[in-house]
Amino acid sequence: MPLSPAVETVSIALAERSYPILIASGLLGDAAVWDDLPAAGAALIVTNVTVAPLYAARLQAALAGRYRQVHTVVLPDGEAFKTWETLNRIFDELLGRGCDRRTVLFALGGGVVGDMTGFAAASFMRGVPFVQVPTTLLAQVDSSVGGKTAINHPLGKNMIGAFYQPLKVVCDLQTLQSLPARELSAGLAEVIKYGPIADMAFLDWIEAHLPALRACEPAALAHAVRRSCEIKASVVGQDERETGLRAILNFGHTFGHAIEAGMGYGQWLHGEAVGCGMVMATRLSQALGLVDAAFADRLVRLVAAAGLPVVGPVLPAPQGGPAADNAERYLALMRVDKKAQDGDIRFVLIDGPGRAVVRSAPDALVRQVIDACCR
Ligand code: NAD
Ligand code: GLY
Repeated sequence: MPLSPAVETVSIALAERSYPILIASGLLGDAAVWDDLPAAGAALIVTNVTVAPLYAARLQAALAGRYRQVHTVVLPDGEAFKTWETLNRIFDELLGRGCDRRTVLFALGGGVVGDMTGFAAASFMRGVPFVQVPTTLLAQVDSSVGGKTAINHPLGKNMIGAFYQPLKVVCDLQTLQSLPARELSAGLAEVIKYGPIADMAFLDWIEAHLPALRACEPAALAHAVRRSCEIKASVVGQDERETGLRAILNFGHTFGHAIEAGMGYGQWLHGEAVGCGMVMATRLSQALGLVDAAFADRLVRLVAAAGLPVVGPVLPAPQGGPAADNAERYLALMRVDKKAQDGDIRFVLIDGPGRAVVRSAPDALVRQVIDACCR
């Protein structure tokens, strides 16, 4: 059965691991989306308590024609549950149901469900096929694409995981209509990110269409998802395992991950932490003379207009740990970042509009930026 011409497709080109990202409204219930998946006796939908009542029945019905058994595991909701314990719930279900290595996993939800399902797929029986069905803006524009899978560790975000590509990514734009405004804003952080690192014309477009995006207008969302996926596809196609270029997709994430871990997972949404992290990384770029004040102010204004925080939090001292000052706390957390080398923090900075660079910066300057950006 052919796909409707209304379905936009972006391809991730990774030789034998290549796959399509399908983007349109109403894809969940479209049989043509699912009928080229590999034959198997069983499928497992992994979702959470918030998304299951909204969309699990629709996906279950669409998959019922393809798999003899369609099981569903419903996880607790939230970043605080992106843990070994929750991951084990997926393995319990797979083993308890007698699933085999042909079983296909479906990640139905936001980035938390997607990252955990991908990691489960990468490790169950040393690898089973999986499909990303992202239902948040953040997951449609970023986390479902590119094969990064992970869980958190109390000492660092996404520290345990694997690179493992899905068979396809199915972005049903209709699902975004039920997103709370705060989650939509969180997703906009990852959309905005693509402008300063790769495409200033896209940044202009985001500025012009921000009201439409915040109002969840389908045409604006469709363009934002497609262009974001195109940019991500191009980067991942050149550097799947982040040996170099792919690190630019982490613009705002070094400061952002410190905020998430330092505040306690789930206190700040990932997108909120990335939004504020982009402000801090931009101010650091400005302090290093890489961008001028006009560019930095423009980006800060856009992040604020997207409904995201632009003032960083003062991080609490770790329980039982020494009371370090705020900048020291950030620096300690950022040294655990995956980009750090021998304790040297490497930041994704803007090196002129539309161009990113990964480099270190003097601690004293980073401290100044943290002090200026946090209250
Ligand atoms: P999330 O998965 O926690 O989802 C946000 C909230 O929205 C949750 O409460 C969820 O239940 C709810 N929700 C999901 N879909 C909904 C819908 N259609 N309607 C109503 N509510 C809905 O958060 P997120 O922002 O999607 O993802 C953040 C996670 O993604 C973080 O853990 C982050 O580390 C990860 N991430 C991974 C990558 C990657 O490359 N793998 C990239 C960026 C972010
Ligand atoms: N979200 C960053 C990456 O996929 O590399």
